[in-house]
Amino acid sequence: MAVASPLLDVEGVHGYYGLAHVLQGVSLSVRPGELVALLGRNGAGKTTTVKAIMGMVAVRQGHIRCAGRDVVGLAPERVAQSGIGYVPEDRRMFPGLTVGENLRLAALGARLGKADQQAVQRRVLDVFPLLEPHLDRDAARLSGGQQQMVSVGRALICGTRLLLVDEVTQGLAPNIASDMGHTLRRLADEGLGVLLVEQNSQLALELADRVYVLDQGVIVASGDAKEMRADPTWTEQYLQL
Ligand SMILES: Nc1ncnc2c1ncn2[C@@H]1O[C@H](COP(=O)(O)OP(=O)(O)OP(=O)(O)O)[C@@H](O)[C@H]1O
Ligand SMILES: [Mg+2]
Repeated sequence: MAVASPLLDVEGVHGYYGLAHVLQGVSLSVRPGELVALLGRNGAGKTTTVKAIMGMVAVRQGHIRCAGRDVVGLAPERVAQSGIGYVPEDRRMFPGLTVGENLRLAALGARLGKADQQAVQRRVLDVFPLLEPHLDRDAARLSGGQQQMVSVGRALICGTRLLLVDEVTQGLAPNIASDMGHTLRRLADEGLGVLLVEQNSQLALELADRVYVLDQGVIVASGDAKEMRADPTWTEQYLQL
């Protein structure tokens, strides 16, 4: 079987906050149908990598291609329009809005017409049926797990082919975190590319096809998740499981 070309191709990226040189030549890729985990300790540069892809961090060297298109230098909304859905670390709901309004606002941001907005809401509810009874509730009053469903749901709206998910399971009860992880796995199985930044490396290794480990703005290890799970030396060295 031919290997699909990458949906996301990050090559030698150097990223900065002002003068702070945080990403020091990061390279990674995600193909359609792949769930790829990005792991690493606190402050390693995981969020910065995702923000660099979204055009929220200055990239002064390297390439970032989404479906073959160079996205470096594009505004975040233009990056999103190239088919990237972003679930930020901070799952903030649009304040004072219901779940349905959160989804509709995301659809408006993606400039969808009314019929498409309804189709998109249907799709989000197919992925997260537990949200259906809460459509008219203030999203900020939902549980953490439900808010994460809204957050991922919003990111699915923009004709999304690639999801960038930053610490979606943080603060969730283990069974809720696992459910969310398996939903993301299913989305990848349906053809989406998923880049999953995750503190819970055990869950990530269980879900992922491939893994990258980032340390001090550099990828220090990468490989097949199945092989890594089977290699205690690897997990000990990089993940302290
Ligand atoms: N807005 C900012 N301005 C300057 N430096 C920043 C900024 N945000 C993050 N950094 C620095 O960049 C480095 C990488 O941070 P980043 O948030 O990408 O790490 P992370 O791997 O996502 O960590 P965590 O697991 O805690 O979320 C850290 O040294 C951090 O202090
Ligand atoms: Mg982070």
